[in-house]
Amino acid sequence: MLHDGMMESLELLETECRQCQRCPLAQGRTQVVLARGNPSAQLLLIGEAPGAEEDRQGLPFVGRSGQLLDHLLAEAGLDRDRDLYIVNGIKCRPPQNRRPTHAEMAACRPWLERQIALVDPAMILLVGATALQAVLGVKGGITRLRGQWRPGEGLLLAGRALMPLLHPSYLLRN
Ligand code: URA
Repeated sequence: MLHDGMMESLELLETECRQCQRCPLAQGRTQVVLARGNPSAQLLLIGEAPGAEEDRQGLPFVGRSGQLLDHLLAEAGLDRDRDLYIVNGIKCRPPQNRRPTHAEMAACRPWLERQIALVDPAMILLVGATALQAVLGVKGGITRLRGQWRPGEGLLLAGRALMPLLHPSYLLRN
């Protein structure tokens, strides 16, 4: 249930994150890309990083990958605005859509941790190898791990079920 305190905290998080200068990606962004969807949802989807269209609109997954994602979610019977909250592991667009560096992921991680704690989802979808790395510290192996629920560990993730999935941009390329 979303209560007033939580709304205030998400707003505070947003206000603070919009001013973030913790890594060099801040220089190249049009704007910080935080979230879309329902913050009361039980399902949190974590993607990689904003692309050009996301950077322009300020919302995650609104470009080509996002259209495919919406389609896949609809096929699974999920409404993207009602059933999920959608964020990225990295909040600012990397130049030429390159993979975020380890240092950029580390700099951005506190924002993601605050989002997870505030939304408090029962289930988390980790979409793409960067999300897998950003959240679980697992480098590589997404093709082996995808589609399987695994129990979260540690203070932030214990009690939540996590599932790595292939990124829609990978599906578009292949
Ligand atoms: N890919 C992502 O992982 N996130 C977006 O927001 C857009 C494309």
